[in-house]
Amino acid sequence: MERIHFKPGTMVYPLPAVMVSCGATPEEYNIITIAWTGTICSDPPMCYISVRPERHSFEIIKRTGEFVINLTTEELARATDWNGCRSGRNFNKWEETGLTAGKAKVVNAPIINESPVSIECKVKEIIPLGTHHMFISEVVNISVDQKYLNAHSGKFNLADAKPLVYNHGYYFGLGREIGKFGWSVEKKSRKKK
Ligand SMILES: Cc1cc2nc3c(=O)[nH]c(=O)nc-3n(C[C@H](O)[C@H](O)[C@H](O)COP(=O)(O)O)c2cc1C
Repeated sequence: MERIHFKPGTMVYPLPAVMVSCGATPEEYNIITIAWTGTICSDPPMCYISVRPERHSFEIIKRTGEFVINLTTEELARATDWNGCRSGRNFNKWEETGLTAGKAKVVNAPIINESPVSIECKVKEIIPLGTHHMFISEVVNISVDQKYLNAHSGKFNLADAKPLVYNHGYYFGLGREIGKFGWSVEKKSRKKK
């Protein structure tokens, strides 16, 4: 089969589109939508976000050294897109989207109450890469909406929150579950006679 070659670019998809909240005081609290994000270490737990220096949020995160990664859902898709198309320089994104700021446990930056998972981060290192600067950060606390905890097992079920996926310019929900971690190598249980 013949393959077409694209010029080098950004093509690692799908990704989460997250809403990153930042700011040390309510007056400067802001939200920026970020797709260039991910986990980079399990222990210590570390994440990155890559932000263009021209973003309003860039200066806030650089100065405060803190931010919160708020996971998004199908229900939050419109607010996620809006916060990625308008700048906090010109709008109060909380008022415009109806999202509300809550108190984080460890950092001064706010969490977004409507998000199912808020990951509090402290910046360890900023690496200028080109168009974007990478904020390498340690996860210092995670809070989740308890409505996604199973009443019996107490287990957190993120799928119930209907996470939002960003795929090459378009937003999607998750499809059907294919299997759980390790299912491909699990031994089949013997049928009882
Ligand atoms: C789906 C999506 C993903 C985005 N990902 C990033 C990103 O990873 N890094 C970045 O600097 N901007 C990204 N943006 C653009 C910013 O969110 C956008 O410029 C925003 O208006 C900046 O807000 P601020 O000026 O209030 O900080 C993304 C936008 C969208 C809609």
